[in-house]
Amino acid sequence: MRLTPIAIAVLLANFASAATRNSAPFRAPGPPLVYPPADPDDRGIPTKAVLLDRYVEQKLDHNNPNDARTWFQRYLIADEFYTPGGPVFVFVSGPWKIDGEIAVNGSIGLLGRDLGAVLIDLEHRFYGKSKPTESLTNEDLAFLTIEQAISDIVNFATFLKQNDEMFSGPWILYGSGYSASLAAWTRAQHPDLFAGAYASCPRLHVTPYFEDYYRVVYSALEEASPGCGNLVRQGFEEMSMIVASGDSETLAQHFTFCDGKIDTRDPYDVQNLYNIANEHFGQEVETARVGNLTDNVCYWMEFESLGTPFEMLAFLVNEFGVCYISDYQEVLEYAVNSTFWQEDYYGKQWMYQQCSELGQFLTTRSTLGPTYVSIDYFLLYCKTVFGPQYNLLHLEQSAARLNELYGGLAPKGTKIVYTVASLDPWHTLGSHFASPESPLIMIQGASHSLDLSGPGQNDTFFVQDARRQVAELIQSWL
Ligand SMILES: *[C@@H]1O[C@H](CO)[C@@H](O)[C@H](O)[C@H]1NC(C)=O
Ligand SMILES: *[C@@H]1O[C@H](CO)[C@@H](O)[C@H](O)[C@H]1NC(C)=O
Ligand SMILES: *[C@@H]1O[C@H](CO)[C@@H](O)[C@H](O)[C@H]1NC(C)=O
Ligand SMILES: *[C@@H]1O[C@H](CO)[C@@H](O)[C@H](O)[C@H]1NC(C)=O
Repeated sequence: MRLTPIAIAVLLANFASAATRNSAPFRAPGPPLVYPPADPDDRGIPTKAVLLDRYVEQKLDHNNPNDARTWFQRYLIADEFYTPGGPVFVFVSGPWKIDGEIAVNGSIGLLGRDLGAVLIDLEHRFYGKSKPTESLTNEDLAFLTIEQAISDIVNFATFLKQNDEMFSGPWILYGSGYSASLAAWTRAQHPDLFAGAYASCPRLHVTPYFEDYYRVVYSALEEASPGCGNLVRQGFEEMSMIVASGDSETLAQHFTFCDGKIDTRDPYDVQNLYNIANEHFGQEVETARVGNLTDNVCYWMEFESLGTPFEMLAFLVNEFGVCYISDYQEVLEYAVNSTFWQEDYYGKQWMYQQCSELGQFLTTRSTLGPTYVSIDYFLLYCKTVFGPQYNLLHLEQSAARLNELYGGLAPKGTKIVYTVASLDPWHTLGSHFASPESPLIMIQGASHSLDLSGPGQNDTFFVQDARRQVAELIQSWL
């Protein structure tokens, strides 16, 4: 999932069709989406899992009793495994459109099938079909806060518990990345409503920028194939020499820019290019499963006869066949203009969450290598698109507030299990001081939230053991 400003560039190719697409504000509760039953797959997962597409009415502003506006929050539910008194397992989704896959086929979905649970995938406000407002202006986005998202989860649980016996069992919340933090924070604040939570690779520590990310990206590439991370680094070094020499033609030959050129004299355009390239490798590492890094990155980087490290780096960045906007001002203007909902594109909403509350911008310092992307690059987006109040001071204050409120790396709450994975670039934001009340399971050699997936043929002992420990803890809380 590409969630940074660059995603805008990727999308531009489809801009015309997205803009003309009719964006219905709300989809009222409609007929259920039923996936037909089928045979077990090769992992032994029964394919039969009927997901019902449902909506629950939510307040736009949970903090203002005088604001009566409401909207419909989407969720997917599988109740066929439910047995009376069974638990309710809710996958708290993050900045994406829900599909039910983790809820039904993930490790907790499979556990829930055995325990007679109701399985739910709950969409986050402002993503997918959960559209609290008709447009996406800054006024609308003011309702996109962590606090409102937590209130949605609380109200969702309260409403369902009141209305149907099926939801009267113990509730467990779980999530991945940002949504793992949400699940943990919600349980910590509402132990009366939720029996426990499972935070897979959370980002508990809020900070304006986050430099460790690309350090882990390089070490994950090195681990996949010794020398591979170093080749990527060399590629970036070569690239920075080309940039320094002002050779924009060579850059334009190797990267697909939408207008065929780049201005190497504009420091923001240069950082934009580094960020595009950085993100490519970050995404590869974040989404990697067994063998993916070797196949998708290292095999090519090590293919010496095909090109220099820079040429191979550019080749990989271009592989999706999209063009990139090289002019950062144009990227910003496009975001300013995007006040309408777009199908499957949530870059602006996620940037708003980062600019207004979360930060965690993926910066790189020149001392770590030549791939220099400063916090100013991201702050210029925040200021230009959302307003001058979203500056560094604002992010520092927000970080202090959230770390105080939720505990940061000393998270509040009990009966919450956390996992961190050594090859997850985010892992240092979740490696907290564990206690018996909030155990931390460190998974060696695993990528982001691999523990949440259903079993795979090549799962290591560490991943299997993490799933077993999580399952035991959850069962002890029911
Ligand atoms: C769950 O896995 C089965 C078997 O691989 C697949 O057919 C089904 O579509 C998956 N369900 C969801 C909701 O992704
Ligand atoms: C990543 O690896 C998994 C198996 O480990 C495979 O099923 C999947 O297709 C690979 N993805 C890519 C993009 O290569
Ligand atoms: C933004 O909107 C203005 C005014 O409608 C238009 O002139 C401009 O081309 C748009 N820019 C982008 C990048 O979409
Ligand atoms: C498991 O590992 C073997 C050997 O490395 C490989 O051939 C196979 O494709 C892998 N299976 C999956 C599903 O990744």
